[in-house]
Amino acid sequence: MAKEWSSLQAILGKLADLGADRDVVLFALGGGVIGDLTGFAAAIYMRGVCFVQVPTTLLAQVDSSVGGKTGINLPQGKNLVGAFHQPQAVWADLDVLGTLPAREYSAGLAEVIKYGPVADPAFFAWLERNMDALMARDHTALMTAVRRACEIKAAVVAADEREGGVRAILNFGHTFGHALEAGLGYGALLHGEAVALGMLMATELSVRALGLDSQLLQRLKSLLERAQLPVRAPYLDPERFLQLMRGDKKAAAGSIRYVLIPVLGQACLQVAPDALALEAIASHSASVTK
Ligand code: GLY
Repeated sequence: MAKEWSSLQAILGKLADLGADRDVVLFALGGGVIGDLTGFAAAIYMRGVCFVQVPTTLLAQVDSSVGGKTGINLPQGKNLVGAFHQPQAVWADLDVLGTLPAREYSAGLAEVIKYGPVADPAFFAWLERNMDALMARDHTALMTAVRRACEIKAAVVAADEREGGVRAILNFGHTFGHALEAGLGYGALLHGEAVALGMLMATELSVRALGLDSQLLQRLKSLLERAQLPVRAPYLDPERFLQLMRGDKKAAAGSIRYVLIPVLGQACLQVAPDALALEAIASHSASVTK
């Protein structure tokens, strides 16, 4: 199943064939793709029916299953069609994470790490102390990490469900990350890997544009390395990189608004000079010759 019209049509057609009425409840058992697709089917079948998220990847448990963003991709871009539709419940079973491939698990950790810089310095420090346990998939450590990530996300979404303001901080690292995913070709990097690299670039830009203490950059890099996430992006032509970020649907009227962190635990949405963004990209990318 992919986040595309044909999959959506198949789900809606099946519901109609089964004679499902407005009392039907859909269960999204799977990763973020299944959650977004099932959620969107629930949002539009008979003008909206209930659904429950049962996320089976770390990334889905700490991010995509919570908050009600549902939708599909178009050939022109990711998540261009969708709806805000909240699940009745999110049921995250940590035992299913034991079978996730290592690379996917690490990609999920990127979205866990994200919450520290933008919202919770104590959680960031906890992650530094507990990264070895998380990499060993220790149940107690995972319980704390998943619960705290969901608490932060739920609080942000409760304050701004439709992303008129503060919810955008959850996109920390995503402006750079989405450009990397699109520029390198979808599939070259997992979403979480692109977000990891994007967080480094956004932190670098925060140091250069807002005077953030550069120690945080080192702490973040070391945490990402311990989570076996990439810390140097493959080369992408700088002008193309900027162009892709301008095309990101979070760019307002051609200017790129980055999620930056003036101090650890706080985030803001801000425009920055292209020259500084290019320096931030170059600092965490391979040079053209590599
Ligand atoms: N993944 C960001 C959000 O749900 O807003």
